[in-house]
Amino acid sequence: MKFSYVSHLQCPKCDKEYSAGVEHQLCSCGSPLLVNYDLEDLRNVLKPDDLIKRKPDLWRYRELLPVQREENIVTLGEGMTPLISMERLGEDVGISNLHMKDEGIIPTGTFKARGAAVGVSMAKELNIQELAMPTNGNAGASWALYAARGGIKSTIVMPVDAPKITRNECAIAGANLYLVDGLISDAGKIVAQTVRDQGLFDASTLKEPYRIEGKKTMGYEIAEQMGWKVPDVILYPTGGGVGLIGIYKALKELQTLEWIPQGKLPRLVAVQSDGCAPIVKAWKEGKKESEFWEGSETIAFGINVPKALGDFLVLESLYETNGCAIAIDDEAILEEQKKIAELEGAFVCPEGASAFVAARRLREENWIKEDDVVVVLNTGAGIKYPDTVDFELPTLQPGELINKEEFFIEE
Ligand SMILES: Cc1ncc(COP(=O)(O)O)c(C=O)c1O
Ligand SMILES: [Zn+2]
Repeated sequence: MKFSYVSHLQCPKCDKEYSAGVEHQLCSCGSPLLVNYDLEDLRNVLKPDDLIKRKPDLWRYRELLPVQREENIVTLGEGMTPLISMERLGEDVGISNLHMKDEGIIPTGTFKARGAAVGVSMAKELNIQELAMPTNGNAGASWALYAARGGIKSTIVMPVDAPKITRNECAIAGANLYLVDGLISDAGKIVAQTVRDQGLFDASTLKEPYRIEGKKTMGYEIAEQMGWKVPDVILYPTGGGVGLIGIYKALKELQTLEWIPQGKLPRLVAVQSDGCAPIVKAWKEGKKESEFWEGSETIAFGINVPKALGDFLVLESLYETNGCAIAIDDEAILEEQKKIAELEGAFVCPEGASAFVAARRLREENWIKEDDVVVVLNTGAGIKYPDTVDFELPTLQPGELINKEEFFIEE
């Protein structure tokens, strides 16, 4: 049996096909490329039960990933993150079947590890020596660390406002790290020029075709963890939208494999911040593509993406699944983050918190029904964002006694 059932790459805009196993960036028409597999062949040789004895990481789906030689896999054990029931929060929100897929529990602390693991493994397979990418922080951190493990050099450019910990992750991995006094779109322009001038591999979101393959494994895992059933709704904090495109791709592949029921897919929800909501605006206007969002700003830094290269694919996934897009304000994100910690003991990242607020709002509007099975992606660990939390705390002198009243002053 083959290690991977990858067949070729294909452009979702102009349908042009490209060979697998050679270096590609965008299609000649400017669109990102998607990876295809021989699913009909695979259906005859691989069954869901075959996965049971495999390791609990994303490489358990290796036939559905693009790496063709096992020795090229660069892994830190990423994948098979917990899908946990959020009963107390669900009661508060009015959803009886609320689950969190917790990507905070993964190497490098965010789901970006999935894209980096598969992207860097492919870079190794294609013999790429040095890559460059713009980032809002988390992706750069994951790619710098995985590239280090794969023996590949990396050049990373991130906004000065990106979470500080992500700087340290890049720097300690030995990346050439640059800060830019601007947005990820500004970092992107610098990287594009550097790539042209210095002949580096451009690992920008969707300019390389493989991170999406890593991220799609969230979709496989949700289905596998639910016993090869799918939920009614999946909510996802959307920046570049790769995770959402990936989950949609994964679910369609699983249908072709007949591993999940045919017919309706979960309604996918793209959650953005009201300080940066290009996908929401495009969805409300029924458009196929988004426009650049001027002056974008939000504490949920990972979803501060003013214009995504794959916006048309994100929007397609919403239209095709009867999903929707919704924007959340920063204040509600912070409130929800605290509520989730208090009720569930989970310290989620602001991006993840935004998706929980979205579930709350959509339940209020009855777009989500009380008995819908709902999965919210928490895309990263709250501990990667220590500065978004700020409490005034009583400080004791040695020997001083505890006066619990101090904690109840407001009540
Ligand atoms: C924690 C977190 N959540 C969500 C996102 C958005 O990811 P995507 O590009 O898949 O939309 C990012 C991207 O930086 C992120 O860091
Ligand atoms: Zn094309």
